[in-house]
Amino acid sequence: MNATEPTPRRTAEELVLVLDFGSQYAQLIARRVREQQVYCEIVRHDLPAAQIAARRPMGLILSGGPSSVYDPGAPRCDPKLFELGVPVLGICYGMQLACQALGGRVENAPAREYGRALCGRTADHPLFDGLPDRFEVWMSHGDQVTRVSDAFVPIAGTDTCPIAAVRHQRLPVLGLQFHPEVTHTPLGGAMLGNFLKQICGCHGRWKLGDFARETVEAIRERVGGDRVICGLSGGVDSSVTAALLYQAIGSNLTCILVNNGLLRRDEQASVIREFTDHFRTDLHVIDAEDRFLGALAGIREPQEKRRRIGHAFIACFKEASAKVAGARYLAQGTLYPDVIESGAAPDGPAATIKLHHNVGGLPEELGFALIEPLRDLFKDEVRKLGLELGLPEELVWRHPFPGPGLAVRCLGEVTRERLAVLRSADAIVVEEIRRGGLYRMTAQAFAVLLPVRSVGVMGDSRTYDHAIAVRCVDTDDFMTADWTRLPYELLARISTRIINEVKGVNRVCYDISSKPPATIEWE
Ligand code: XMP
Repeated sequence: MNATEPTPRRTAEELVLVLDFGSQYAQLIARRVREQQVYCEIVRHDLPAAQIAARRPMGLILSGGPSSVYDPGAPRCDPKLFELGVPVLGICYGMQLACQALGGRVENAPAREYGRALCGRTADHPLFDGLPDRFEVWMSHGDQVTRVSDAFVPIAGTDTCPIAAVRHQRLPVLGLQFHPEVTHTPLGGAMLGNFLKQICGCHGRWKLGDFARETVEAIRERVGGDRVICGLSGGVDSSVTAALLYQAIGSNLTCILVNNGLLRRDEQASVIREFTDHFRTDLHVIDAEDRFLGALAGIREPQEKRRRIGHAFIACFKEASAKVAGARYLAQGTLYPDVIESGAAPDGPAATIKLHHNVGGLPEELGFALIEPLRDLFKDEVRKLGLELGLPEELVWRHPFPGPGLAVRCLGEVTRERLAVLRSADAIVVEEIRRGGLYRMTAQAFAVLLPVRSVGVMGDSRTYDHAIAVRCVDTDDFMTADWTRLPYELLARISTRIINEVKGVNRVCYDISSKPPATIEWE
């Protein structure tokens, strides 16, 4: 059995494919489509037209991308896809590619355009149903389409971009130079909805409840009477994975919780409590603190930390799973953004941002086949699914915690002493955010221990102690994020408590960077 054999794919009744040309927004497009209750997947930009046709999509969306269509190695799609009779919507680079492939001319814009613009309709089209004559859009491009062949008709324009939207005369091919998927295009969702419902003919019947039922059935069919191991972290992803598996195979599920010494305060106890409240099946708790901290000794470089944690994890699993008789499968809570951000398609055009240790499959020699039932879902969809499966709100709304744990929040060397400082500061941050009633309103809140010391004064003495950064962000999809505007009073309380209660800390800073260009975690 191949270790990476996928769970049989559910046959979504209505499928839309997003061809990814390397846009940072490709996932956002997929989310917006799913928000219209149409199932959507991101696929490689060069997927052959025959393979696209075999999936019987109702529509295709060509994403934007960083290249110019005239770059020598610019990513292209199979031009035959325009002849499939399936409606195509090209966005930005996708529009330029469609126009170029079908006879238009694309040129470098006189000035690179980035930001808001007012777009006016120049022709009637169902894409604009329900929209006013002029509406705000978000532009982000260097090139633009300057001339279209007779095959295309311009249907909207802005002052600086006269051909901001086009339709093909004969084929169901549309193009938008602006980005309907971003919130800065306030009516973008309506345009995408029009594309899906009016042009592709989708009804929008995709529901998470169906997804749960189909996934449970698919797992049952695939696994039969075999045993499945599932790594638990206490986070929503692994809990929902375990809940799906538990529904599918009951006590044939064995869960493993690895205490890697990088967990937050009281985390192990609360995972065990929640597990025993919800599942009547085996839980093996592995104490691997020494192994992980040994592997991390002297390591400061973030990717190397992740690599070593990944290896230690695999080794732990190997040992623990060898003790579980008859296990053939391993379930993981990998999500869609993990798959994309980790550059799971290594030859794809999108850049790898971080090495997420839990993505990319386990080494084959482990002998397990992988089950990743959440691989197609976004975080907010996983939360909804968790509630559908009866998991408690407290667990479902828990802030995400990275697989490499506190190691990527303990900048510089990871030692027991430094982890103890970080853990205490982190507990105060979360406690105060909860107490202020803001836990559900923020997406993630935590402390980071910085690898610097600074001078302070406590009582009459000079101190030379650690600095803590507080990170608190708002985000829906964890792909982009903004720092939370926490009330000053709350920040003051957090700072005072950390400095008073955590020995060795004399300075607290609040991280006011958005993602991008920063990331949520510091490493
Ligand atoms: P970044 O730091 O990339 O984080 O902006 C985005 C989201 O992913 C989480 N994260 C991880 N989750 N394994 C995980 O399971 C990882 O290696 C990892 N790195 C980051 C991060 O906490 C945030 O929610």
